Amino acid sequence: MQVVHLPRLGTFAAWREVARAHAEQSTAPSSLVWQLSGEAPSLFDAFPDRGFLGSKRKVVVPKAFLPLAKQICAHRSPGAFDLAYRLLLSLCEQPSLITNRANPEMAKAERLAKNIRRDMHKMKAFVRFRDVTPAGAARRQFVSWFEPDHRIEELIGGFFTRRFGDMDWIIITPEVTMRFQAGEISYEAVKSAKPDLSDETEALWRTYYANIFNPARLKIKAMQSEMPKKYWKNLPEASLIPDLIAHAEEQVAQMRASAPTLPPVRAGRVLERLHAPIAKKPDGGLEELKFELRGCQRCPLAGPATQTVPGEGPTEAQLMIVGEQPGDHEDIAGRPFVGPAGQMFDQVAGRVGLDRREVYVTNAVKHFKFQVRGKRRIHQSPNGGEVRHCRWWLQKEIALVQPSLIVALGATAAQALTGDGKAITQRRGRIEKGLDDVPVLITWHPAALLRQADPNKKREQVKTLEEDLARACKFISERRQIA
Ligand code: URA
Repeated sequence: MQVVHLPRLGTFAAWREVARAHAEQSTAPSSLVWQLSGEAPSLFDAFPDRGFLGSKRKVVVPKAFLPLAKQICAHRSPGAFDLAYRLLLSLCEQPSLITNRANPEMAKAERLAKNIRRDMHKMKAFVRFRDVTPAGAARRQFVSWFEPDHRIEELIGGFFTRRFGDMDWIIITPEVTMRFQAGEISYEAVKSAKPDLSDETEALWRTYYANIFNPARLKIKAMQSEMPKKYWKNLPEASLIPDLIAHAEEQVAQMRASAPTLPPVRAGRVLERLHAPIAKKPDGGLEELKFELRGCQRCPLAGPATQTVPGEGPTEAQLMIVGEQPGDHEDIAGRPFVGPAGQMFDQVAGRVGLDRREVYVTNAVKHFKFQVRGKRRIHQSPNGGEVRHCRWWLQKEIALVQPSLIVALGATAAQALTGDGKAITQRRGRIEKGLDDVPVLITWHPAALLRQADPNKKREQVKTLEEDLARACKFISERRQIA
């Protein structure tokens, strides 16, 4: 009997290596004991004894086995590694087994894989981040605690990096700490207890949940199956559930009795757009691009936003300014940088002689992304996928305007223009190579300066933004002289 020790991280890779070596020697499953002991498999106890090797058999299995085995190896059920090994041997003999649900071992494997997928689905839905960003940090920082049923951390890391690639975060589970910092994910196998994470974000989650809870649509069974009770202890909003259920009927009666409220200001804009006569498509250039942009439905941000906010400025502009995405004011006005961040930009630009009317101003993402809290629409940064989707438009704008230099305001713009999502603290003031072959000068986003609570840091950052814009002007005027 051989004991195979497997590590807590890289478990599947270790299993795969040892399993393949044993399958080549046709080692019987009954002579292997698989143990997740946290250690890596050692040459002496895990692998077949090389001294007695007979002829090796070829280990070839259907492609679909690999993801299935990965999920089985993440399962906590005691026989999971053994089951995966048994299947490996059987599939070498009979590849068609992979689609045979009537086979008891395949059926069990599918059951375990389903548990893993469900566990991953729950983790995606119920991780609640708390904002722990220190004042002045260039990237937002978040922490979360989650207790998965199985060892899914490495399987799900990719989802969180894609979904929350624009911020730094740590997800702590009882056995593993997942860390995403400056675009890199790392895992550490450490035992942790639930940290104290209560802060005002908890209250925000509760407000959000109370707002989206619709008493008229209450289906208790469906709700509990989607949000099982075992997750409640780590969900800030769960404390509201009993009360919301208890008062649902009363609330529905109140809703029926109350008069309709007035529509928000932006509703007028939406209707205006809806009833506008169908315009003729302009022929070519930025006007045609704007026309096409108006109907953009390339990503789900188009739904909740009032309208697309295109860039504006002369086609022959030498300088292009790119922000993150329209804010609340821009979404209503349909123009970029007209709200508080735009006013701050105009002030600083004015001080270095940069005339806003001579530059082309646009955003990396053309729709306002927000979360409704009460009557307010709270800005949410676009994620990596949304930025990539919207590059379609940004690329076209750059190709039409052909600026000599682009100024990226903040990390999102820098990511859209250079493809590099790293924090901008170290990159600010640098001119980097752009994806569109136009140099990109990276600087602070005016909104970050408005949020800066430390007056000394704020002064310093405003000064550097001013220096960066002055440098952009110098760059352009030198280009003009050469031309
Ligand atoms: N912030 C941006 O990045 N763009 C705008 O248009 C307004 C605020």
